Amino acid sequence: MKKTDEIRIKSPAQLNGCRAAGEKAAEVLRLMCDAVRPGISTKQLDDFALRAMQALGCKSADFGYYGYPAQTCISVNDAVIHGVPSPSVVLKDGDMVSIDITVAYEGFVGDNARTVIVGGGTPQTRSFVEHTEEALLAGIDAARAGNRVGDISHAVETVAIRNKFGIVHEYVGHGCGVDMHEAPEIPNYGPAGRGVILRPGMVLCIEPMFTLGSRKIRVSKSDKWTVFTQDGSLACHSEMMIAVTPNGAPAEILTPR
Ligand code: MF3
Ligand code: CO
Ligand code: CO
Repeated sequence: MKKTDEIRIKSPAQLNGCRAAGEKAAEVLRLMCDAVRPGISTKQLDDFALRAMQALGCKSADFGYYGYPAQTCISVNDAVIHGVPSPSVVLKDGDMVSIDITVAYEGFVGDNARTVIVGGGTPQTRSFVEHTEEALLAGIDAARAGNRVGDISHAVETVAIRNKFGIVHEYVGHGCGVDMHEAPEIPNYGPAGRGVILRPGMVLCIEPMFTLGSRKIRVSKSDKWTVFTQDGSLACHSEMMIAVTPNGAPAEILTPR
């Protein structure tokens, strides 16, 4: 995805806008996760998202983005991200469902995602989701003024390596807030101490994308969007939008769960 090269430092007024958009994105994500059940198709979930966004006064930022054909991204099992909702993808017990919601609200963008398991899952899939969340939170904890982008990447990677997860390299976290994708890129791997220095007012999306097998991915030939694992292994994805705060304090979470 093309990103503006300049890292935007948001003004207090812009941070308020990001906060409001983040809250909308988080609310839609909550409603979507609650709507997940066996027998529902991802297209039905996408229709539900459209109604939820309308009720909340926001719009999908995904729809039409580089021609993206739906309101949300819903990626099931070996789909990692950018799953195009479809009437033929019908959820069943045990499915791992990554729901990624990006909304536009009053000129700002909120972006967040999480993976839920239909019916609660097995110890293995539950632990996969829990450790992906742990990696996200470790990344957020490293997102402090004075640290560098590489410190976030390394914190995320450390949790993945400890758990022997595959780390997707081709897609990354990113700046956000005014546009969906802003600089900087935030890989989920790499050494600490490298990259740009984090400053208060940066708004970032941190989003680990892990697999239970090889890290290699392929993009669907049929819908041209859905990113699958090459080896068919399960994938997990989790994302929050945060703002870097002053004085090395913990980041503010703009998309609270
Ligand atoms: N929500 C995604 C992200 O985390 C981007 C959506 S891609 C789109 O960066 F094509 F659906 F818009
Ligand atoms: Co997203
Ligand atoms: Co994102």
